[in-house]
Amino acid sequence: MTLEIRAALRSDLDSLVRLHAPLHQLFVGSSPRLAKEAVDPLAVRDFFDDVLGGPESSIAVAEIERGVSGFIWFHLVKLPDRLFERASRHLYIIAISVAPDARRRGVGSALVQHAKAIALAEGADEILLDMYPANSSARRFYRHCGFSTVTERLRLPLDQAEPGQ
Ligand SMILES: CC(C)(COP(=O)(O)OP(=O)(O)OC[C@H]1O[C@@H](n2cnc3c(N)ncnc32)[C@H](O)[C@@H]1OP(=O)(O)O)[C@@H](O)C(=O)NCCC(=O)NCCS
Repeated sequence: MTLEIRAALRSDLDSLVRLHAPLHQLFVGSSPRLAKEAVDPLAVRDFFDDVLGGPESSIAVAEIERGVSGFIWFHLVKLPDRLFERASRHLYIIAISVAPDARRRGVGSALVQHAKAIALAEGADEILLDMYPANSSARRFYRHCGFSTVTERLRLPLDQAEPGQ
């Protein structure tokens, strides 16, 4: 398999819309009250167009024989020295997705490797990301890539009457 990781271009926008859709479904599944079930693909395309044109974050795509099969979206975070924390910088992975028919072929690992190379070149100490706890395949993937859990975010929904009221 030939595999090239490169910076995303405007000509990749349709691929980004396609590859982002499963991520939005994970969001809908985990936060049904917050997430909008259907988002206009043209609006998603415009959104990624703005991301590509802006300085805040970067997107790289994985291209194999059949075309663009994955993307990784990340940004570099530089934190100043504070009372309880030393100055630090890390690369934050906002999203990663591989097309269903291209999974388990090393595409996701190559995208993480790409982010790792950029993080090292930028002098980052670590790579961070958030994931939904029910996403067991992503958990196995991240463990395979060397990630471990640092924090857990808990949620208390406040939309129901207290028990007994
Ligand atoms: C998670 C994801 C990016 C992995 O991409 P991928 O290209 O399939 O990953 P790789 O082929 O590099 O997998 C490397 C290793 O990770 C582990 N792994 C990956 N997917 C796995 C799965 N579904 N179940 C168990 N282990 C898995 C395996 O150890 C695998 O090595 P192996 O295939 O030799 O066993 C892909 O499944 C995906 O896009 N999922 C939907 C979107 C998503 O969940 N994104 C993360 C949100 S936090």
